[in-house]
Parts: sequence; C-alpha cells; structure tokens
Amino acid sequence: MVLAESTEDAEIVGREEELGALARFIDDIDRGPAGLILEGEAGVGKTTLWRAAMRMAETKGHRVLATSGAPTETTLAFAGLVDLLGTVLNEVLPRLPMPQRRAMEATLLLSESKRPPTGRVISAALLTALRELSTTGPVLVAIDDVQWLDTPTANALSFAIRRLRGDRVALVFAIRSGERAALSLDLMRTPFADRVSRMELRPLSFGALRRLLLTRTDLRLTRHLLRRIHDTSGGNPFFALELARALARGNTPPEPGEPLPVPADLRLLLSDSIAQLPSATRDALAVAALLARPSIEAISSATTGSADDLRPAFDANVIEVAEGAIRFVHPLIRSVVYAQMPAADRARWQRRLVDIVSDVEESAHHLALVSFVPDEAVAFRLESAGDHARRRGAPLAAAGLLEHALRLTPEDQANERARRSLAAADAWVDSGDRRRAAALCEDVRRTIRHGPLRADALQRLADKDNAQTVAQAIAYAEEALREAAGDHRREVDVLLRLATLRHFRTEWHAAVDCATKALRVAEAAGDLDATASALTALGMYETFLGVGDPARHYRRAIELEGQVAAQTASSGIFGDPYWAPQTMLSDWQRKNGELDEARLLLDRQYQRAVEAGDEASRMLLCVHLAELETTAGSFDLAQRWNDEAMALADETEAARRRGLVLSSIAALEAYRGNLQGAGELAQQARTIADAFGDELLVAKTRAIRCFAELTAERYDSALTELGPSIEHPVLSVLPIAGDGIEALIGAGRTAEARKPLDELARYSERTGLRMFRLLVLRCRGLLSAAGGDVEGAIETLEDAAVLSAEIPLPFERARTLLALGQVLRRGKQKRRAREALDEAQAGFARLGARRWSERAAAELSRIGGRGPMRWELTPTERRVAQLVAEGLTNKEVAGALMSSVRAVEANLTRIYAKLGVRSRTELAHVLGGMKTS
Ligand SMILES: Nc1ncnc2c1ncn2[C@@H]1O[C@H](COP(=O)(O)OP(=O)(O)OP(=O)(O)O)[C@@H](O)[C@H]1O
Ligand SMILES: [Mg+2]
Repeated sequence: MVLAESTEDAEIVGREEELGALARFIDDIDRGPAGLILEGEAGVGKTTLWRAAMRMAETKGHRVLATSGAPTETTLAFAGLVDLLGTVLNEVLPRLPMPQRRAMEATLLLSESKRPPTGRVISAALLTALRELSTTGPVLVAIDDVQWLDTPTANALSFAIRRLRGDRVALVFAIRSGERAALSLDLMRTPFADRVSRMELRPLSFGALRRLLLTRTDLRLTRHLLRRIHDTSGGNPFFALELARALARGNTPPEPGEPLPVPADLRLLLSDSIAQLPSATRDALAVAALLARPSIEAISSATTGSADDLRPAFDANVIEVAEGAIRFVHPLIRSVVYAQMPAADRARWQRRLVDIVSDVEESAHHLALVSFVPDEAVAFRLESAGDHARRRGAPLAAAGLLEHALRLTPEDQANERARRSLAAADAWVDSGDRRRAAALCEDVRRTIRHGPLRADALQRLADKDNAQTVAQAIAYAEEALREAAGDHRREVDVLLRLATLRHFRTEWHAAVDCATKALRVAEAAGDLDATASALTALGMYETFLGVGDPARHYRRAIELEGQVAAQTASSGIFGDPYWAPQTMLSDWQRKNGELDEARLLLDRQYQRAVEAGDEASRMLLCVHLAELETTAGSFDLAQRWNDEAMALADETEAARRRGLVLSSIAALEAYRGNLQGAGELAQQARTIADAFGDELLVAKTRAIRCFAELTAERYDSALTELGPSIEHPVLSVLPIAGDGIEALIGAGRTAEARKPLDELARYSERTGLRMFRLLVLRCRGLLSAAGGDVEGAIETLEDAAVLSAEIPLPFERARTLLALGQVLRRGKQKRRAREALDEAQAGFARLGARRWSERAAAELSRIGGRGPMRWELTPTERRVAQLVAEGLTNKEVAGALMSSVRAVEANLTRIYAKLGVRSRTELAHVLGGMKTS
C-alpha cells in the first residue's frame, strides 16, 4: 500500500526561526540535561517540528527515544515506556541492577512476576536506563502529545528527569495549548529548569501558507482563493490543507465574493470528509479509533470485512502505517471519528473486541465498558486482569479494573465482593489514594462478620496512616488478631502491626510481647520469612528496654533471609531496606563502637534502596549514615548524608520524615559548635514532631537542645531543654542520658543525678554496649569530682579514658579526656592534666567541634602558675569584658562594637581563659575587684 503524501519528509515552510532554535537546542545536549516544550493549537505544526527535532538528533548520531500520547479511552499502562525503550531494551536490560531489571521485565511483560514491583523501582530503572544510554552519547527523549501520555509512564519519567544532573539527556515535548500535562510542569521544576524553554507556535504567514498549499496540493490557487483559505484557517496549516482538499473534491472553485462551499470549522470539515468515505471504511475507522494499537488484522476481524475496506481511508490521507500498526494521520481525525460513532455501534464493536484484542488488560477494559449487569464470570475475568496489571506495577490500571470487577460481582457473592474490595484497596494504596482504600476496607468490615477476609480488612484499617487515631488502630488490630487465629501468616502480620502501634505509643513492653508472640507463631509454622521479620522487630523493641539479645536476633534474621534469598525483598512490613535486620544490627554495632562493620551493613542497605527506587527508605538510611559518620567524627561526610536526606525529603514531601532529617542536621551543627543554628533547627524539627505526635522525635529534639546548652556550660537551661525525658524509663537510657546526667551534675543537682545514672548503668550492663559503658564511667567520674572525691574521680575517669582509647568514638574520647584533665588539674597533677587536655583540645579541633575545642583550650590556660592578670587582655578583649560585665548580651555587645556575635564569643572565651573565670557573673566580680583595687 502506497502512502499518499507521507507527511514525514514533506518540506517545512515558514518555521526558519523555530528550526534554528531547535538546531541550537540539539547542539547543546552535550552540555547536560535540557528541555524544550513545543506548544500551540491543534494542527498548527507541533508534531511537524517535533519530528524535525528527532531527525536533527539522529543526523548527529544521537540516540532518540520517542513516543506519542494517544487520546484513546483505553490508554494502556506503560504503553509510552514500551515505545521509549522498545528499541534499546536489549542494550539496557543487562545494565540494570537486578531488582530494576526484574521489575522492568515484569512491567513490559517480558516475564511473569508473582509480586508487584515495590516502590518506584520502575522509575528508578528508567532513570538508570537514561543515564546508562547517555554515557555513550547524547540522548533525546521526544514525546508528542504529552498530555495524553499514559499516567504510569508520565510518573516514571517525571521521577527520572527530576534526578538528572550532568547527564546528556534532552527532552522535547509537544503539547496542545489549553491542555494540561503534569509532566511538562515537572520539566519546568527540574534542577535544570533554567535550561528548559517553551516554544509557542504561531499561525503560518500568508506567504508560508501559500507555499505549503503549492507544494502539498493540486489545487489551482488564485490569490483570492489563497486569501480566503488563509482567513478561514487563521494560518493553521492543518486546517488550510483540509480546506484545500475539500475544495479540490468539489467541482467548481468559489467565485470571488461567494462563501467557501465547505464548512469553516475544522471539526465539521473533518466530519464531512469522513462522511464521504464508504460505510465499510467508516466502520473500520470506528474500530481503529477504539483500539489502543490498531492493526489491520484486528480491525478486519471485528468488522468481518477485508483489509481493502481501509484503502479509501489511506487514499483520503486519514490514516497511515507506522511501525506495523495503522494510525490516524492526525489525532483530531481520531476524535472526530470517535465522536461520530453512535453509542450502540460503539458497544457492538467493543463487545467484539473483547475476544479479538490479545492484551489481557485492554480486552478486559472493553469488556468492562460493555457490561452493565452483575455477572460472576465477567467479574472474575476483570479481577484477573486487575491482578495482571498489579503484578506488572500498574496499580492505577489495576484499581480501575478491580473496581469494575467489584461493580459486576453479584450482590449475594459476599466473599467475592470482599476479596475484590481488598485487592482494589491495595491497588489504591499503591497508587496513592488511601481514602478510597480505607472506604473499601470499611465496606468489608461492615459486611463480613468473621474469618480471614474480615481480618485482612481490619489489618489494613489498623495501618496508622489509615486509622483516625492510634487507639482506634490498636482496637482494629486486636480484633484482626482474633479473626486471624489459626492462620500463621496473618497472625504474624497483625502481631507485628500491633507491635509497631505500641512502639509509637512508647509502650515497649507491650511491643516486645507482641513481637515475641509473632516469633513463636512464625517459628511453629516453619515460616522463615515471617520468623526473620519477627526477630527484627523483637530486637528493635528489646533494644529500647535493654533486655534480651537483639544482636543475636538480628544475626539470625539475616541468616534466615539468606535462606529465603530467592525472594530478597521479603513481604510484610519489614521487607523494605530500612526495616531490615541489617539496618537494626548496624545501629547496635554503632552503639558498640563497631563502626566499620556498621558502615558496611548500612552501605549495602543504602544501595538496595537506591536500586529499588525506594526513596523513603533511602532517606532514612541517609540519616542513619549521617549519625554513623557523626559518631565516627567525620562531620563533613555526615553533612553530605544529611544533605542527601534533605534533598530526598523535599522530593518525597514526607513532612514527618523531614522532621527527622532536620533533627539530624541540628545534631551535627551542635557538635560543630554552631549552637544557635542547632537550637533553631531542632525547634523546627520539634514543631513537626509535635504535629505528628511523634514522641521519640520530640525527645530527640529536646536532647539536641540540651546538648547545645551543655556545650555552652549553661547547665540549668540544658535541663530545662531536656524536660521530662530524664525521668522517662526508656528515653533516659538512650545515648542522650549522658548529657542529662552531666547537666544535673554541672547544675549542682548531684543527688538527682544518681537515679538516672544507676538506670543507665543497669542498661549498660544488660546490653554490654560499649558506648554506654563509656558514658557511665564518665558520668561516675564527674559525679565523684562534684562530691569532692578528686582521687576517686581521677581513677574512674582514667578507666573511662582507657576504654575510650579502645573504641573509635573520637568525640566521646576527647570529651572524656577533657573531664579527666579537669580533675587532674584539681588534683594538682599539672603535667598529666596538661597532657590530657592537650589531647582533648587537639581531638576536638581535628573534629571541628569548635566550642568544645575552646573549652579544652580554656582549661589548658588555667594550668600553670600564672594567675589572672588584667594587663593580659587586649584592648578589644578589655572592651568586650567591660560590656559583658555591665550585663549586655553577646548580641548587644556585637552591636555596640560593630562586630559579629561569633567574634564576641571567641573574645569572651579568651577572656574567660585569661581571667580564669567560668561565667558572666564571675567575670563581673573579677572586673569589679580590679576596678576597686
Ligand atoms: N511549517 C509547516 N510546513 C509544512 N507543513 C506543515 C507545517 N506545519 C504543519 N504542517 C502540516 O500541517 C498538518 C498538521 O501539523 P501537525 O500534525 O504538526 O500539527 P500539530 O500541531 O501537531 O497538531 P495537534 O495538536 O492536533 O497534534 C500536517 O499535515 C503537517 O504536515
Ligand atoms: Mg500533533
């Protein structure tokens, strides 16, 4: 079949400027990601320029990945992705990490999969594919009619483009004016937004249109006729060409002054030309308009006609052949054909298509649209198709099909209805509509009185993101547990959910109880996967209480996971890389000073999260890594992890987790000595924690503010900041406990320090964690010193120093040496005090812990026979000292001296050291004494 006037290589008229801009755009891909959006009314020539861009890129040897959105009612999930990657798949697949490769194969139906791909793994796979391809040369991603691109592809692409950095990937989108496409908005919000431009296509000039009609039609054109066509079409080339064709069909061209003998409306014009076609051809076109990928075979089977029926449509330039399928030369023609089709005809064709179309989901879609009365067989078929969609990672499509299945399930089939409701609920959760999911589960809860389906509904309702309150969630979970009795997998899932809910209420004894029961059930059933999940949960909650043997649980869980390695991503709530036994074990190891081992484990989990496109886990792992590097004293590395976590938090808009990241940044700033910044960040985190009722995070932010005050030796306010946490049976044994106890001692409330210290000591003994042992020794030493027992203090702090030399916790070591140096100085052991303080000061300085380093320096300067001498102050120091003694704040002093708060603080530190004072009050005393003497 010969293509009448293929538009592919027809000359482009009147777009010199636009083509120049396109050429520059293509030339520029080498310099990193960029985007171009072609915009304009229907038929103005967007597709034409879009194709030109692709040709230019191909000529330069660039790789082009292309797809066009289609305005069909059956838009197949990931149809766009299939187009984009179709030609490069063989090259790309082997270069994807395993989880991405597997997901990609399932999504593109190259292989079967049992479970739906998790997280944004498809999106991550697309990103990897683009990056990999761009390593060998620039890549152009060209999408026409982006407003009709299927949603899953658009989402995946949106994910990928927001993460392009230096990659040589350019995007060119065409979009009809007035249409909206989230993807093109996303393109303008990418990090390379300054390299994204829009090109608005205007109507063609009279001259250009004349040239267009001369080259593309046989019409004998008088200047008068040309003028009429230009006016009527408004310079729209597609409209103009259709007008010319219609005029050519008529016998006599209109006389000057006569109206054009054809409709002056593009749609009517198109209707007219379709109406001219034989009725068999029109039937064939109608079927084509209904199909996602119209093929001649499918059309002929549905119409029971022959391939020849389509010939008049080719001749009239209504359809053309592209990549084995036929397509309408213009989307407007398709919509006109579709709109013209009487509803009865549409239903008739669709009923036939159900058995002709080979794609399971498309066929089901046609079936759904022609089914109105409940019918179990139909419902079953739709359910299977929904399941199919879900397994290849198209939850939205799945949800749609499952809702139809539900609608078509007979009223009296309660179990079928419930099963389909729950399946739809899961699909809705995956596609982000928790509300609809909860409503469906509620239906099941109302209609099913007993048994596993009720348990499943309750279990889903007990998700703390679904339930109104945690108490309500717990009530649901407890009922679910009764309904699940005897079914081990369900029981374990529910028990672990209950444990999490208890954890959120800081009820760790109850949490440990639930996890222990879950473990027993899982073990009895011989379910390795479930056993591993239960062990992980148990270890985590035991850690809070300091009971049991968490490290052993984690190690066993890891071993079991190895045994079920066939499916690495285990099911249940502990399946993601964050809630993995490896992550939990790494935290344990960090607290035990086994930093290298901990880092290995975390890096691996981090890698898993990246490969799975699981950004929620990845963000949490970044926070863990930041904490680890802070502990290891690599503050710069820690900051990089924090930065990444923050970028991910911005990306995923997870407000609650943003609080966690803020607190992590605050902690690091506090260590670095930026106390004010740390306090403010912690406050921001606190606001978020309060809003979500996240008590653990509240405690963490309080601890950070406490530490900041402690650093500045403002002990009373450190205690105010810490608040009730010091009394809390569990929170008081978190690493923050050391600071609380030190603040109590510093504030002179030594008697009160005893109880939390004993608590901490017991926790440290029970767990054997070396970080806690060190804290206990240091606090004991400080307490002895405060009680006047300098000898005892020296002894204990020397033990602490020995322990701190064995474990790689540089900050804690320097802090221990500082405490030791202080008591040695008080014990008049000048030489040894100087050694300890020298090392402490150097340690803090190496870390970049400014304030602590200053404190150590101040202590150092107090050793040595020289007493405080006023003439040692420089003129600036003298001025600062006076103003401070007068009661001005640092900020006010800075204002008065036109200096910075930081400079004032530094001066003040030196002043304190030189004068041997420790507070503003002391300073005022000393200066007062000097004046009167
Ligand atoms: N500058 C041009 N030179 C030559 N032919 C053109 C030009 N612009 C458009 N055409 C012709 O006009 C017709 C419509 O153009 P095109 O399909 O590119 O429009 P569009 O803007 O993509 O429309 P839609 O929004 O409906 O997709 C095509 O036959 C095309 O060949
Ligand atoms: Mg177009």
